[in-house]
Amino acid sequence: MKWRQKALLQSLVARLPLRLSYSIHYYLQRRSGGLRRVDLSHRLKMGLDLMECIVRQGRSVESGVFLEIGTGLQITLPLVLWLCGASEITTVDLNHYLKAELVGGDEFRMRTHFEQIVRLLGNTPGTRLSVERLNALLAVGDDIDRVLKAAHIRYQAPADATRLDITPHTIDYHVSYAVLQHIPPDILRSIIAEARRLLKPGGLFVHWIDLSDHFSHGDHSISSVNFLRFSEREWDRLSGNRYMYQNRLRIDDYVRILTEMDATILSVKEHVNPSALELLQKGFPLDSRFASKDPRTNAVTNAWVVCEFR
Ligand SMILES: C[S@@+](CC[C@H](N)C(=O)[O-])C[C@H]1O[C@@H](n2cnc3c(N)ncnc32)[C@H](O)[C@@H]1O
Repeated sequence: MKWRQKALLQSLVARLPLRLSYSIHYYLQRRSGGLRRVDLSHRLKMGLDLMECIVRQGRSVESGVFLEIGTGLQITLPLVLWLCGASEITTVDLNHYLKAELVGGDEFRMRTHFEQIVRLLGNTPGTRLSVERLNALLAVGDDIDRVLKAAHIRYQAPADATRLDITPHTIDYHVSYAVLQHIPPDILRSIIAEARRLLKPGGLFVHWIDLSDHFSHGDHSISSVNFLRFSEREWDRLSGNRYMYQNRLRIDDYVRILTEMDATILSVKEHVNPSALELLQKGFPLDSRFASKDPRTNAVTNAWVVCEFR
């Protein structure tokens, strides 16, 4: 589907009464959107990348206490952390989006791809797959509550990551995957302040941010930086709804906000999209908010950001 049609459809669906709106949105995602085919290896890989960020800081996943914000529809990331030795995982979401059929699907895929999981999680430096945990998890079947219990995952929804009912300084790792780009800047600051309150001294804030225009994921006729040409008002009209809101912050903005909030940046592993960079270097028109940034900064499409608080 062309991106403008998708934008229109999403904004119409977002205006429907909440329950109906969610159901239609989910149906569309399953039929023709990103959930048409759930790729287990991609989702395992995001867990591996997260663990690599932790291991590179000389820390360990084993026995770690994790807080994931923005669970979404699946719990693959918490499951991977559990399989690799985490002691406790809390995952929170503002919306109760978790889908039993997707969790069951993950469990089924893990069972049918047992060898692949052992190979992937077992052979990555710094991670140690617990085959006992994997066997125990697969033995419980695909019931969502039993899966959560078996993997010691506490799912809280609705729960707002800006104010959580969690004892201060009890979390080793505050993590998320593909969430921060959907958070308005003022709320992002509140989430960071809450992370600082909850993390143990020396605990890590580890987040994967998708900085690309999400409309480009399904419509390859536009580039990952297409959204940077719109004014705030135009962009809000196109995507300012609960399903597609993107703050368009660039990687330097995240680094600045974190630094202003007493974070020490330990690493930023960024991916620059070469074709977007070329487009920007050739003078792709940009809104004034982005025009003064250098093309490389604007062309960062995703990044793992790791920091700790002073
Ligand atoms: C793109 S989705 C999550 C994707 C998911 N992490 C994954 O990997 O598939 C973003 C999620 O963040 C949640 N969210 C947004 N604001 C939040 C907040 N203040 N606190 C907790 N969750 C929030 C949304 O409800 C949504 O489920």
